[in-house]
Amino acid sequence: MSIQVRDQVFSLTTNDSLYQMKVDQYGILNHTWYGPKTEMDMSYIEDYPEISFSANLWDTEKSRMYSLNDRLLEYPCGGISDFREPALLLRVPDGSSSLDLRYYSYEILEGKYSIEKLPASFDRDHKTQTLKITLKDTVYDIFVDLLYGIFEEENVITRSVTIRNMTPFEIQVKKAVSASLDLPESDYEVIHFHGRHAMERLAERTSLSHGTFSIGSRRGQSSHQHNPGIILAKNNTNETSGEAYGMLLVYSGGFEADIEKDQLDQIRATIGLRSENFRWQLKPCEHFCAPEAILSYSEKGLGVLSNQYHDFIRSHLIRSSFVHQKRPILINNWEATYFDFNGEKLLSIAKSAHELGIELFVLDDGWFGERHNDDSSLGDWFVNEKKLQMPLRQLVEKIHALGMQFGLWIEPEMVSENSKLYRDHPNWVLRSPLRDPARSRYQLVLDMANPEVVDYLEQVFTKLIEENEIDYIKWDMNRSISDFYAPSLSPKTQSEMAHRYMLGVYDLADRLTSRFENILFEGCAGGGGRFDAGMLYYFPQYWCSDDTDAHNRCFIQHGTSFFYPISATGSHVSAIPNHQTGRNTSLYTRGIVAMAGTFGYELDLSELSPKEKEEVKEQIKVYKSMQELVLEGDYYRLSDPNQQNVSAWSFVSKDKKKIIVQAVVFEHKPNMKKPHVFLQGLDENRWYRRKEDGHLFTGKALMKAGLFLPDQLGTDEACMIELEQIDSKNREAQ
Ligand code: DGJ
Repeated sequence: MSIQVRDQVFSLTTNDSLYQMKVDQYGILNHTWYGPKTEMDMSYIEDYPEISFSANLWDTEKSRMYSLNDRLLEYPCGGISDFREPALLLRVPDGSSSLDLRYYSYEILEGKYSIEKLPASFDRDHKTQTLKITLKDTVYDIFVDLLYGIFEEENVITRSVTIRNMTPFEIQVKKAVSASLDLPESDYEVIHFHGRHAMERLAERTSLSHGTFSIGSRRGQSSHQHNPGIILAKNNTNETSGEAYGMLLVYSGGFEADIEKDQLDQIRATIGLRSENFRWQLKPCEHFCAPEAILSYSEKGLGVLSNQYHDFIRSHLIRSSFVHQKRPILINNWEATYFDFNGEKLLSIAKSAHELGIELFVLDDGWFGERHNDDSSLGDWFVNEKKLQMPLRQLVEKIHALGMQFGLWIEPEMVSENSKLYRDHPNWVLRSPLRDPARSRYQLVLDMANPEVVDYLEQVFTKLIEENEIDYIKWDMNRSISDFYAPSLSPKTQSEMAHRYMLGVYDLADRLTSRFENILFEGCAGGGGRFDAGMLYYFPQYWCSDDTDAHNRCFIQHGTSFFYPISATGSHVSAIPNHQTGRNTSLYTRGIVAMAGTFGYELDLSELSPKEKEEVKEQIKVYKSMQELVLEGDYYRLSDPNQQNVSAWSFVSKDKKKIIVQAVVFEHKPNMKKPHVFLQGLDENRWYRRKEDGHLFTGKALMKAGLFLPDQLGTDEACMIELEQIDSKNREAQ
């Protein structure tokens, strides 16, 4: 049983972790443990002397030994003497913002809870149990349900929270994080993923000082700048050893993650919806559901933690039937033509792609309205037949006739000022009543909080997809939200807008992906601006970054891999000099880097030399032969590109029999030592043969002494080494 309840101690166990809570003598739910499994009540670690200036609950009477400000709490609220970051802040009509939540009841439910209107993990195998602990305020009939999904084999605990207003009056939710995690020690560093457009999810590891370390987004999207996930790693934790905790939010809008080191050197980490300008009105009998957070713990380093997330996301979060399928190798015309194309040009790209073995042709931005550059026509999702020189249907048929699939780019949430849609519905745009909205890439944002807009978009895209036999959709989103005002909402509910926007996006994504189950959807937001667990629920893959430069991609893909599986990471070979950086890298290097993802091309293939075309053919053959391993195997980071002169990673099959190591050396320096990497995840007692020359190594040697990369690697040159486990008995014969 993964949930045990004894003497008001709640123990949630996974294969390698224990998560424990205890109701104390005052009915407060304490968080007593998250870490390696122990068989005992861990509440003894909460042993506090009297701490001055820590207020005491009224019920403790004359005792000054018990204070909420010191204790490890499961879901802390403000206003009743815990002075640290609160998880929940409400306001009731008398103006008071204090809440005093005490234990009320619990329930164990078979199966995994779901969250209405929000993406959440699931368990198709019905192995998961849900624990629901209900807390109630001591004065008001306000109930808080804490939900826990326990995924034993995956070492994952999911969390969500529902706030129920059973008072006779309206209350306001000002903050409701999805998870709060109190840890008794402070020797942690935080790993978070920051960046900017075309340089997303760069891993940064930083130590914690007293006070609060905070990341988040106020852009109405999870953002290029900060990804909604944090890792707390013990100071000595590395890829292969040490303790680490992950907290990943299943949400694509504004968020905040705060890590506070308190006066007693304890840690509180919270993650959830952005609370700035947030206020959700709850009428009597209404409830509010916070998005899900996915927690995972590893005692064996960051590599294991990442693989726990990868497996979990693949098996329990991405709901698309494509998740475990091989993906078609695609050619996208964006970097090949930008807006400058016609039907003939597209067909010539498709034909050359087909000849090389590419399976899916994707028509990107510019096929609709009068969109000849980025300043018009978003919202006018009518095919520009003049530009295509034929109806879209005919183009699709021609591509299908080549034996290829056809994919199309859309950007549902946006509208250009210069569009029929905007002229017809100026009130469908986010803007405050007396102010002109900010433009970004010349575009405005549709009011996705308005169900009429969502209905309209559903109908437009349903028709488009059905009439044209589309096989793949790229759903883009090319600006941050700046004007948080939805004309469809009353002045009083404007502070719900940011979340209602996301609910509208999820609703549309749900309707389209449910209706078109056989269509492969790829998410995109100016590259990876909304690459998060919320979007992955609907879209099995996501365009990782608009930066297609192989060198920079090493950093972007390295950071992305901490939480997100390779099968979700869109990666393409593009032209040189690279359009974003001007850098020249070999076709081989570009191929190797793109192979660490859902593989494709994004350049005018007809411009390649015959030799390069042969190389592309070979790349496709190689990728196809390793695709299953890439998409389903374990993934290990073998270097830290921020610290080393090499970016290296490996794929290891679940049975540890097949290994592929890929690497890029950043700078060739004269007389440098041959770079070498320490492999991970092998069977240390088995023998492995390097395919290229038959050299035999033990798993232990490869992991402890390492594997040399070829020494002739020049600047930004890549290599790939394949190894396979051999039957030890036959070692002599090998
Ligand atoms: C941003 C995307 O990331 C690109 O791949 C491309 O689709 C453009 N938008 C089109 O406008």
